[in-house]
Amino acid sequence: MTTVSEKLLTRAEESGTRGPAGPPGPAVPLLSLRDVRIADGGDGREIVHGVSFDLTPGKVVGIVGESGSGKTLTCRAALGILPDHFAITGGSVEIEGTDISALTPARWTALRGATIGAVFQDPASYLNPSLRIGRQIAEVVRVKKGLGRRAARERVLALLRAVHLRDPELVHDQYPHELSGGMLQRVLIAAAVAADPRILVADEATTALDVTVQAEILDLLADLRDRAGLALVVVSHDLAVVARLCDEVLVMRRGEVVEQGPTRRVLDDPRHAYTRLLISEHEQYGLEKFLGPAASKGEA
Ligand SMILES: Nc1ncnc2c1ncn2[C@@H]1O[C@H](COP(=O)(O)OP(=O)(O)OP(=O)(O)O)[C@@H](O)[C@H]1O
Ligand SMILES: [Mg+2]
Repeated sequence: MTTVSEKLLTRAEESGTRGPAGPPGPAVPLLSLRDVRIADGGDGREIVHGVSFDLTPGKVVGIVGESGSGKTLTCRAALGILPDHFAITGGSVEIEGTDISALTPARWTALRGATIGAVFQDPASYLNPSLRIGRQIAEVVRVKKGLGRRAARERVLALLRAVHLRDPELVHDQYPHELSGGMLQRVLIAAAVAADPRILVADEATTALDVTVQAEILDLLADLRDRAGLALVVVSHDLAVVARLCDEVLVMRRGEVVEQGPTRRVLDDPRHAYTRLLISEHEQYGLEKFLGPAASKGEA
């Protein structure tokens, strides 16, 4: 399959003249969670009580739910970056068929970036304030792709262009504090896909952004999915975000998945009172505007 960045770069060069990439290939689970349980090692308290989903190429799984419900811990478990005293105490996480409990630190280093990448809220805190943007992404490209200085620079510029930053040459030479939140989030997405991951975890990646920029970032993620078959885990407080992007949604509350299913089914026919509550909270913002006219007809 064509890699994410190749697709991205093609896209940037053609500026959207081609149609979508077509079927993303055989449905090999890239990421598979089976009844994952996470406990706080300090007091042994279980915080996440069983999360299961399968992510295949081009599939987008959304996780919604109230603050503290375990969305981020679930993502971190899948990325092998649980906070110190937390541990997976039940179930399993598999990345491309390999149980992560069997991974050595060296194997994790190889997987991160190249197979699974992540974008979190607050992009500024993931960038080094004293290094120019271009250099920070080039580091990823050089380490993970083994490119030389000049080739890395070309690739970084192409990536910046691909995430629709208006003036890639300028951004390349700027420092993080010189960019807006939306621009920084694009930079982080460029860095996250620089090594052609097959899975991208976006945890509240658009939460801090204003509505217009948020919509643009969501379009960018959808574009990556369509063009390169990138599989996404999208975490949000905002049901509208999930409605717009996700094939399947998990609704979490207090560490429990209270409802899970195809996004349209869950939104059109919510079975759990908490899902209904979330939907009613969002009704004032107009879910239809995100779902499009097909939603009200219950299209699967
Ligand atoms: N580093 C940490 N140290 C201590 N407790 C933590 C830590 N990270 C998470 N927790 C606790 O674990 C529970 C789940 O947290 P998590 O961050 O997964 O929630 P969340 O659903 O992502 O919430 P939010 O929507 O606010 O991001 C919460 O009760 C939280 O207080
Ligand atoms: Mg969180």
